[in-house]
Amino acid sequence: MNSNQIPGDFLPINGTDHVEFYVGNARQAAHYYMTAFGFQPLAYAGLETGLKDRSSYVLRQNKITFVLTSSLLPESPVAGHCKLHGDGVKVIALWVDDARKSFEETVKRGAKPYQEPKTFTDVNGEVITSGIYTYGETVHLFVERKNYKGIFLPGFVKWDPHYKPAPVGLKHVDHMVGNVGWGEMNIWAKFYADVMGFTQLVSFDDKDISTEYTALMSKVMANGNLRIKFPLNEPAAGKKKSQIEEYLDFYHSPGVQHIAMETDHIVETVTALYNRGVEFLKVPMSYYDSVLSRVGKIDEDIAALRDFGILVDRDDEGYLLQIFTKPVEDRPTVFYEVIQRKGAKSFGKGNFKALFESIELEQQNRGTL
Ligand code: FE2
Repeated sequence: MNSNQIPGDFLPINGTDHVEFYVGNARQAAHYYMTAFGFQPLAYAGLETGLKDRSSYVLRQNKITFVLTSSLLPESPVAGHCKLHGDGVKVIALWVDDARKSFEETVKRGAKPYQEPKTFTDVNGEVITSGIYTYGETVHLFVERKNYKGIFLPGFVKWDPHYKPAPVGLKHVDHMVGNVGWGEMNIWAKFYADVMGFTQLVSFDDKDISTEYTALMSKVMANGNLRIKFPLNEPAAGKKKSQIEEYLDFYHSPGVQHIAMETDHIVETVTALYNRGVEFLKVPMSYYDSVLSRVGKIDEDIAALRDFGILVDRDDEGYLLQIFTKPVEDRPTVFYEVIQRKGAKSFGKGNFKALFESIELEQQNRGTL
């Protein structure tokens, strides 16, 4: 057993293996994630490697691995996913030591199978994967790679273009948030508890997360060693349409709302992202008038945080800095969070109100509030 695992955990997970997006044009999406977010080219599969129906580009930055896949055919599950949802996350792949057991244990507890355990081999060894459905059309793939020495998965070749913009200091996935439908938060929290053995870390209701116009409710589910954290949001009734409702309208189903990526130096990382064209949500300048009295002393220069709109929150264990991008596609669906944790293990509850007012301003501009 791996040292980071908890005795009795029926689904031990070592971490996030990769996140796969189904997109309209994987080649161009890869260019965007390299240019804007500093991901490095790693591997490729497509026509040149014998695939007939799709191309996939694998990008990596430290421990974050993104796979961008698009269809080569008019009719395929990848094309269908893009037609319905736009570009979005299809696979949240989890790194496990035993993909067969992960499948058996979760399916036995009620998971809907996506893929039976399957072994893939090449000269570098073997990888076993299996998969189950979660909310919407999103799936969890269990990836067992302990007997594999290749760059990504069998079938992929090294992708080494001359264009490699520098990384920006994103280290690993901190959490991935799912938006689920009206009244479904508890159903999916129970799914993660019963089927995957997760426990609930925190819960927010509409009193925590509401503005004059919109509201949402959220529960954070985590696995045994806390390496996997999945907040789940559902819309709550407000005077106007909430951002969760807007997401559901445009994604046409539950799905991944945002991926939070951790950095050790948020000002440097956000400066680099900003200079490469990433657009962030801005909170009103008045936020910075009161932030220090709310969170106390911090190491960072408040002027630098204010320049970009980096938010601060504190809990019993320390503080955190966070910032949110605007959606990265035309539909107001998937966006990113950049987070730096200085002791705090929470999710920025103290920032929700300021943040939501900022999102509402964006919604107003889109005519979807
Ligand atoms: Fe988040």
